[in-house]
Amino acid sequence: MSLDLALIGGTGLYRFPGLEDTVTRRVETPFGVPSDAIVSGRVGRHHIAFLARHGSDHTLAPHRVNYRANVWALHSLGARRVVGINAVGGIRDDMGPRALVVPDQIIDYTHDRLTSFSDVEGCKVEHVDFSEPYAAGLRGALVASARRAGIAIVDGGCYGATQGPRLETRAEIARMRRDGCDLVGMTGMPEAVLARELGVDYACLALVANWAAGCGDAAEISLEEIFANLDEATARVPAIVAELLGA
Ligand code: HPA
Repeated sequence: MSLDLALIGGTGLYRFPGLEDTVTRRVETPFGVPSDAIVSGRVGRHHIAFLARHGSDHTLAPHRVNYRANVWALHSLGARRVVGINAVGGIRDDMGPRALVVPDQIIDYTHDRLTSFSDVEGCKVEHVDFSEPYAAGLRGALVASARRAGIAIVDGGCYGATQGPRLETRAEIARMRRDGCDLVGMTGMPEAVLARELGVDYACLALVANWAAGCGDAAEISLEEIFANLDEATARVPAIVAELLGA
């Protein structure tokens, strides 16, 4: 079975609704085991695979996710296009809670994560081009799919990847804004660069869960609000994916 698309679901998206004829596989990779079993199945006549980045019961914090195993496993099952779905905080004025954004740039503030497949003894070192961190064709297709589905989406923006699992301070977000970040999330890297190393087309569909620290009116970020906003934003994902597949 060839795969038309793979999805990596983030916070709030632990299974993909509407998948038919599902097969669940526990995959092992040279880099360890993925966050959870990979569920593949049909959406219309298209085959997709789904992996819950934090595990289906959300037990893996962003810094503990085995990004290498996740990307390797999806690639080994035949995925050549991957959409990472990521909960984020909004920094830019038009990226408030519940907005959907397809970013086009990344600034990586994470640390102590395994960011390459090229650190195995004796392997050939790869210096991949990452000027454009996301696959332009897949990004454009995501934006066009949302618009065809009548769903508002912001095309472009810079994703700042932080270490987590704590949220950021106001000063950190102010610095990120000065750096040019429009969104902040904890899981966008190294997922994107690992996909690039394997030659997989990768794009991010960012779901804004909250204003980043110091950006909205609230003095604190409420977790309840994060989950309510994510539920609402997540509900729009299947229609975008269906359009993306042309199902
Ligand atoms: N910061 C980092 N990651 C996030 C946030 C945030 O405010 N909201 C959802 N994921």
